Amino acid sequence: MSETWLTGKVIENRHWTETLFSLRVEGVRSSFRAGQFVRIALDVDGQRVARAFSFVNSPDDPVLEFYGVIVPDGPLSPRLAKLRAGDALYVAPNPAGFLMLSELPEAETLWLLSTGTGLAPFLSILRTDTSRFRNVVLVHAVRHANELTYQEVIRGTRARYVTFVSREKAAGSLEGRIPAAILDGRLEKAAGRPLTPESSHVMLCGNPQMLKDAQAALAQRGLRKHRRRTPGHITVESFW
Ligand SMILES: Cc1cc2nc3c(=O)[nH]c(=O)nc-3n(C[C@H](O)[C@H](O)[C@H](O)COP(=O)(O)OP(=O)(O)OC[C@H]3O[C@@H](n4cnc5c(N)ncnc54)[C@H](O)[C@@H]3O)c2cc1C
Ligand SMILES: NC(=O)c1ccc[n+]([C@@H]2O[C@H](COP(=O)([O-])OP(=O)(O)OC[C@H]3O[C@@H](n4cnc5c(N)ncnc54)[C@H](OP(=O)(O)O)[C@@H]3O)[C@@H](O)[C@H]2O)c1
Repeated sequence: MSETWLTGKVIENRHWTETLFSLRVEGVRSSFRAGQFVRIALDVDGQRVARAFSFVNSPDDPVLEFYGVIVPDGPLSPRLAKLRAGDALYVAPNPAGFLMLSELPEAETLWLLSTGTGLAPFLSILRTDTSRFRNVVLVHAVRHANELTYQEVIRGTRARYVTFVSREKAAGSLEGRIPAAILDGRLEKAAGRPLTPESSHVMLCGNPQMLKDAQAALAQRGLRKHRRRTPGHITVESFW
């Protein structure tokens, strides 16, 4: 089936580190909810290569923003990283995904737990109205401190911001991984909030192994996956 792609124009490609980049794209009207993703694409050797990317911008911002990492030898991400202002980027017409606040039951505290570029959908969510939750905690876990990107944006939101740096010592960040810190109480302590089924809804995004390990840790605390038919406390989106 042929697909109608929209053609956007890159207006900025910001490189945060050697591997992390953010693309800003204009000229495409995309109707989506914060937390959703869309496929973006380039033509490589005559073939259109498309991958899902979460929106970073808020739904009412006409400039689209995507946050990516270069996967060495990946078919698309190294090429996206090389785009320059003025280059074309194809955007699919149909945003999708269920990692959005309208899918969530009531909770006192909203926890947004991310690894790496899994931060992206939570940036969009934090740029919208989160006032139905009394507290919002954003957790970003990365390998190295210089990968703690978007700090200015995050500090401009109402979220309590907790960071993990796993492969070097970093002042102000927790060591190790999110699941271990759920189990030993370090995450609750850093956030200043209880992580209980009575008080919390947890959204998880990023590395699929983290999603699995974090869900196992949360299960030990009595939290279970949220489904429309059987409401729970955990909503996940895997990036690969
Ligand atoms: C719903 C959804 C939303 C996504 N949103 C984003 C996003 O906002 N930003 C983003 O960078 N990627 C996102 N991805 C991943 C993205 O679609 C691509 O897989 C990624 O850009 C790499 O593309 P590639 O063609 O270079 O390599 P691929 O062939 O797609 O991937 C090769 C391998 O790279 C690893 N990998 C893929 N994506 C990542 C990643 N993000 N971080 C670390 N390792 C990875 C995995 O091991 C994967 O098997 C999302 C994926 C899904 C399913
Ligand atoms: N980040 C880089 O320095 C770098 C550089 C070049 C290329 N890349 C490429 O980018 C991809 C990975 O990038 P990334 O660093 O964004 O993602 P990542 O490997 O998912 O790591 C991000 C964070 O998630 C943590 N994590 C990994 N598995 C976990 C689990 N099971 N439970 C809880 N936490 C877990 C990592 O901790 P641990 O450190 O303990 O694993 C790290 O703190 C790879 O394809 C890699 O080749 C990355």
